[in-house]
Amino acid sequence: MRTQVAIIGAGPAGLLLGHLLRAEGIDVVVVERATPDYVLGRIRAGVLERTATMLMERVGLAGRMHREGLPHDGFALADGDRLIRIPVTELTGHHVLVYGQTELTRDLMEAAPARGLQVLYGAADVALHDLESDAPYLTYSQDGRAERIDADFICGCDGFHGPSRKAVPASVGAAYEKLYPFGWLGILADVPPCHHELIYANHDRGFALASMRSATRSRYYIQVPLDEDLGDWPDDRLWDELAVRLGPEAAASLTRGPAIEKSIAPLRSFVFEPMRHGRLLLAGDSAHIVPPTGAKGLNLAASDVHYLSEALVRHYRHGDQDAIGGYSQKALARVWKSERFSWQLTKLMHRFPETDAFDRRMQLADLDYIATSRAAQTTIAENYVGLPL
Ligand code: FAD
Ligand code: DHB
Repeated sequence: MRTQVAIIGAGPAGLLLGHLLRAEGIDVVVVERATPDYVLGRIRAGVLERTATMLMERVGLAGRMHREGLPHDGFALADGDRLIRIPVTELTGHHVLVYGQTELTRDLMEAAPARGLQVLYGAADVALHDLESDAPYLTYSQDGRAERIDADFICGCDGFHGPSRKAVPASVGAAYEKLYPFGWLGILADVPPCHHELIYANHDRGFALASMRSATRSRYYIQVPLDEDLGDWPDDRLWDELAVRLGPEAAASLTRGPAIEKSIAPLRSFVFEPMRHGRLLLAGDSAHIVPPTGAKGLNLAASDVHYLSEALVRHYRHGDQDAIGGYSQKALARVWKSERFSWQLTKLMHRFPETDAFDRRMQLADLDYIATSRAAQTTIAENYVGLPL
């Protein structure tokens, strides 16, 4: 098979990129290892910034998102006792939208056939070839048959563990990484949220987050050690811990219910440079990971896809030979700023094993400063709603 752009991975980055290119009449094929149900079963991000919502509008798939998504004008930081509200809309003029990654992916997935976006699910052993030539290609197998796709460009949207980044020779790339000594234990439950806005809490016992998917579905997280066993966290224990860490105000209106999903995710900061090698272009988690504090992962995938689709459209429509070459630098400038924000908010809100009494007082002083400084709140708010493209 031959196409103009072959995309590896049908997560949010791959599907959004595919739709943006199809809207410009560019031929695209997406190859995905998993099944559609598996992709939709992964419970991940919940907060969209303007970049992501703007791209959904651009591809004409924002209808359900605007009908069902919940606009949020602020969120709270908690220090164990009180809620410190960050009024993001008042400070920046923009809001964020609570709309699950699962729903966004579903909207993109369901619209694909009608838009001529071919997505091949169940593609095994995807391998990249001849990336430094003008004729790169992919090989994979499907239902036991060996297949090949020739393309002008290959876009690696295959997440952190996919083959794309690994296809870049070590001598031309550099990886920057920070691992955190804890993970997030998440629970999804069909109960009303405990608060009308998100709460990020730093308690003596560790971090907790109260989030939501709708007025009747809540998503909560607590910080746990990396080697924690999910079996040690029956629902009751988890609700008790959330009630303590989120503080008295949230605990008073915490509704408990059975978990419909429960999992532990490790935290990591990671950037791979450059995001282009020959005819291979990386976007989203394949090139970078942020710890989830601040909800930047999915939004960063969206801004990569914005820059990448712009570069490919300029290449195909306007014959701009420099467009592709400028992609990596443009995307990385924004990536590093989101890495900074996510890293800083993670440090501010979590208990680290080495945290001593002085470090703890520094965190509390920081939170107290934020509570009283409009300048500090503005800094947080403008990063939270998303820096300009
Ligand atoms: P992905 O969503 O990972 O999509 C990559 C796709 O590539 C997948 O469908 C995968 O099956 C496919 N693929 C992988 N390997 C191959 C292969 N060999 N061949 C073909 N296809 C392949 N962000 C937040 O903002 N808030 C959160 O709460 C949050 N929670 C998260 C929890 C977890 C467990 C993880 C892993 C991430 C979380 N994130 C969160 C981050 C956010 O979900 C990601 O940043 C976002 O999914 C990135 O989108 P992507 O399309 O780049 O990658
Ligand atoms: C969610 C996850 C986040 O990492 C975050 O910062 C906010 C919300 C969520 O899953 O709802």
